[in-house]
Amino acid sequence: MAHRLAGKVAIITGAGSGIGRASAQLFAAEGAQVMCADIVTAHVEETARLIGAQAIAATVDVTRPADIERMVAQTLAAFGRLDVLYANAGIGEASNAIDMTIEQWDRMIAVNLTSVWLSAKYALPHMIAGGGGSIINQSSTAGLIGIPDLPHYSAAKTGVIGLTRQIAAEYGPRNIRCNAICPSSIPTPLVSRVWEQRARDAGSTASLAEQQATVAARHPMRRIGTLSDCANLALFLASDESAWISGAAVPLDGGLTAT
Ligand SMILES: NC(=O)c1ccc[n+]([C@@H]2O[C@H](COP(=O)([O-])OP(=O)(O)OC[C@H]3O[C@@H](n4cnc5c(N)ncnc54)[C@H](O)[C@@H]3O)[C@@H](O)[C@H]2O)c1
Repeated sequence: MAHRLAGKVAIITGAGSGIGRASAQLFAAEGAQVMCADIVTAHVEETARLIGAQAIAATVDVTRPADIERMVAQTLAAFGRLDVLYANAGIGEASNAIDMTIEQWDRMIAVNLTSVWLSAKYALPHMIAGGGGSIINQSSTAGLIGIPDLPHYSAAKTGVIGLTRQIAAEYGPRNIRCNAICPSSIPTPLVSRVWEQRARDAGSTASLAEQQATVAARHPMRRIGTLSDCANLALFLASDESAWISGAAVPLDGGLTAT
């Protein structure tokens, strides 16, 4: 079977771990050349090493415009074009609207929302120059429904959906598609940290496995997600198979937000 991303060049932020690493590996397996970007140098270099010659790595703090501009420039220098941007980097933290500080709010908005705009800002001109492209923004079910203890995270992820629709509307005529992925729980270091924090705040001794079973039971499909569930959706949105899908916020949640 032909590779689904043959000839395409992709940037994936947050590629040093979890969903970003799994997606970088899948995109490369489907023929893409991939710029793997992350704030943790050792992790993102390991992702590129696992992939091999089709990947390059860059240390990038997605909150810094100069880093994003360099990431895009390095991609163009190495691979000569840009077709796909997967703005996936993010952080998670439990808090509440009363106790949260302005520093917590500002950091969350910077990493999980402003970075998505910055990535598009520097990627779009090159995608347009190349005849078009696909932007995939990482949102969350927290961008679709209210979830207790995630006020700043929910605000950022809802903002990502708004920005996704705006980019789809404005740049569709230039053959740019822009879609958001809205996952529920997928086991990654980000989720483990939030679950551990929740248990601490609640004075609970529940293990991660016990919390996972509780969360899984809330989903109609009675399981949480996998890295492959998310990477496969990102692959579809990156590929020409989704050529007429733009401005969508796709739930990836085993039916959770349908209930
Ligand atoms: N895992 C889930 O259940 C879930 C659900 C919904 C949405 N998401 C979103 O998926 C994305 C990926 O998360 P994950 O679950 O794979 O977590 P993860 O912690 O495994 O990966 C996140 C990556 O982002 C990187 N990162 C963090 N801050 C950065 C910065 N300032 N600059 C560059 N890179 C930075 C981290 O170093 C890490 O490698 C995030 O946007 C997250 O909000 C995850």
